[in-house]
Amino acid sequence: MTLRARIVGTGSALPKTRVSNEDLAQRVDTSDEWIVARTGIRFRHIAQDGETTSTLATDACQKALKAANVEAGEVDLIILATATPDQTFPASATKVQAALGIDDCIAFDVAAVCSGFLYALSVADSMIRAGAARTALVIGSETFSRILDWEDRTTCVLFGDGAGAVVLRAEEGESGILATALHADGRHNGLLYVDGGPSTTGTGGKVRMKGPEVFSHAATNLASVMKEVLDKASLVTDDIDWVVPHQANARILDATARKLGLPAEKVIMTVDQHANTSAASVPLALDLAVRDGRIKSGDLVVLEAMGGGFTWGACVARL
Ligand code: UT7
Repeated sequence: MTLRARIVGTGSALPKTRVSNEDLAQRVDTSDEWIVARTGIRFRHIAQDGETTSTLATDACQKALKAANVEAGEVDLIILATATPDQTFPASATKVQAALGIDDCIAFDVAAVCSGFLYALSVADSMIRAGAARTALVIGSETFSRILDWEDRTTCVLFGDGAGAVVLRAEEGESGILATALHADGRHNGLLYVDGGPSTTGTGGKVRMKGPEVFSHAATNLASVMKEVLDKASLVTDDIDWVVPHQANARILDATARKLGLPAEKVIMTVDQHANTSAASVPLALDLAVRDGRIKSGDLVVLEAMGGGFTWGACVARL
């Protein structure tokens, strides 16, 4: 039997405040028609005072642990993917650890922006298969609203806040993570970035993006990394039950599915309700589809994402 990291529970959390496209049109020169036609987005949740990356992450973890029927004390690894940590340091993963009442475990953050959850999942999978951990919480959590320029209509309408988490367990058998693939190409740093940081401006900075350039890279890179991860697991497109993609733009999801010859009904789409929640988007969408009964135990699921860096990655797992 093969030792694998198996997803045994999922959870998610959203800030209470939901903002519509019409709400945004009161603030910047935009419209519901433009946002829906270009992105598919209708709503996003925006964190208010007291809601932070670590509080949303903690909420998502508590739900994931409950779904998995696992006690917090059994967790020996926490990896939190985020580009919007509560503070530059300590790692927000350690704040989640403390909030969950875990006295000692490995806890750190991963920064790969929208691909962060795929990076974190791949690291946790490697650590579990290497015997360095047995029960892991892997989280994507973001409060992107805090790094948006609310005067810039080309970015502020695209993003939202939220968190998603999975519990991974070391298990012998056929279920679990079958393959992962990760990539980065830092030549594209200037296409999607934050214009500040501790070591440059000493400030938090705001998101800047050359949208159309990112769009064309996204569809190409995502189709190719999904093909790569399927090849690694000796699977083909027809084997896939569900794809849970990064939720940046409905048009990217459609284009990627078309490139792979994948029916649109197999693609989980939440971008209309949550907008782009960066590292949180894949685990949030996964949790939604598990809880509404679409994704079931035994299904073959492909997760994929691409974001600033560029970074991109995919994972194929049997649930
Ligand atoms: O999560 C990381 C990955 N991120 C992505 O994958 C995002 C990828 N990019 C995209 O999703 C799309 O490029 C956007 C949604 C960002 C933009 O859509 P687009 O179809 O590429 O539009 P565009 O940037 O080419 O802009 C078209 C027009 C421009 O006006 P002109 O120059 O044609 O007069 C923009 O100024 O739309 C204008 N525009 C807007 N109009 C109303 C840009 N933003 C807005 C807005 N409301 N919010």
